[in-house]
Amino acid sequence: MGLTVLIPGAGARENAWAWKLAQSPRVGKIYCAPGTPGTAQFAENVQIPPTSIDRLARFAERRSIDLTVVGREDLLGLGIVNTFRARGLRIFGPTRAAAEIETDKALAKFMMSVSGIPTGTFRVFSRYDEAVVYVVECFTHTPGLTLFIKASGLASGKGAYRCETLEKAQEALWKIMVGRVHQDAGDNVLVEECIPGQEISIHALADGKSSILFPPAQDHKTIGEDERSPMTGGMGVITPVPWFKAHDMAAVDRQIVLPTLSMLASSGRRFSGCLFPGLKITNEGPKVLEFNARFGDPETQAYMRLLKSDLVELLWACTDGTLATCKLGWRGGFAASITLASGWYPYEQKGKCGFPIQGIKEAEKVPGVVVFHAGTKLIDGTLCTDGGRVLSVTALGASLRETLDHAYEAVHLVSFKGMQYRKNIGAKAL
Ligand code: GLY
Repeated sequence: MGLTVLIPGAGARENAWAWKLAQSPRVGKIYCAPGTPGTAQFAENVQIPPTSIDRLARFAERRSIDLTVVGREDLLGLGIVNTFRARGLRIFGPTRAAAEIETDKALAKFMMSVSGIPTGTFRVFSRYDEAVVYVVECFTHTPGLTLFIKASGLASGKGAYRCETLEKAQEALWKIMVGRVHQDAGDNVLVEECIPGQEISIHALADGKSSILFPPAQDHKTIGEDERSPMTGGMGVITPVPWFKAHDMAAVDRQIVLPTLSMLASSGRRFSGCLFPGLKITNEGPKVLEFNARFGDPETQAYMRLLKSDLVELLWACTDGTLATCKLGWRGGFAASITLASGWYPYEQKGKCGFPIQGIKEAEKVPGVVVFHAGTKLIDGTLCTDGGRVLSVTALGASLRETLDHAYEAVHLVSFKGMQYRKNIGAKAL
């Protein structure tokens, strides 16, 4: 009998895990809660909302789930790992306290500044009037400045505002602190310097004692090709990043990953799971933009395509402190994932959905292409859109050029009403 695995969630990241775990000779059965028509190809979907953590734990007990794998940060913030562990259930991911490195951005910044982990300058405000006075001072002293204004709590990747003018900064503060568009997540607001440089995503598996790095990835966060367009959770990823070399990764490990894990441990937040620092690479070296306490989306979709090792062995090792015995194996070449989104994304929480999706079968005939589902559902047997992020088109190739050619050839075969995607994923790394 193989292992039984439970994946709470319904994103393309969860679909990529199900796809990869289904290839493991050690995995017998996979459940996704609630999953998508995409995960249904590899798993049994169970209609339990993932935020119903007690129901999920009871399900895990009834079905003798051997391992639960969590990616959603809201579930980590709700303490899913604490609940499962308290009931003797094995689960991959950090505790609620350890996940604060992501769920409380103000705390993360304070921890970085006291531990000397490189990051940009920042101020934290809980009062709107004080925040406004500060941004007025900033723009008066430094005309032409760019600031980032961020909700400190979780905001589905949409709580960061790039502000190139005082008016934009005031508008962002008003939205978050007075309009409360991100609700409690905006109780504290960070005003940060804009760190120049290219963005890199780092993923480090950790078991509380040791850690192991994935290859570097590069996400593209804004909805459009213009880097000043609105932020999303991620519109496309490439991995590895050709210009980010082994010695750069060694510096990231030394200056950021290892000190962060020891800082978390010494503050009573021993971290096991996937630590994902989002970095900016500057002339002074890497600086942390933010920490995530989980696998990224769409990073995971590209990683799962490139990973040769058995995923379940790695996740299991993180839960029982044996990561030091594991080695990561990767295919040669590159992987890319491109997000296909609904036309209204990322503006509304839930805009118009239910549009038929065509062309996935044809897209998957392109060499090296696999399409993962995020916001999809079956309506009378027809696959339709059901969210902002709809599909993740992934591709492999020997070179980055070939990978992106395959990915975009596949993207052009898929269609649904209002479909949007970025046309320059990976372009600056070519
Ligand atoms: N792709 C960025 C994230 O998962 O937060």
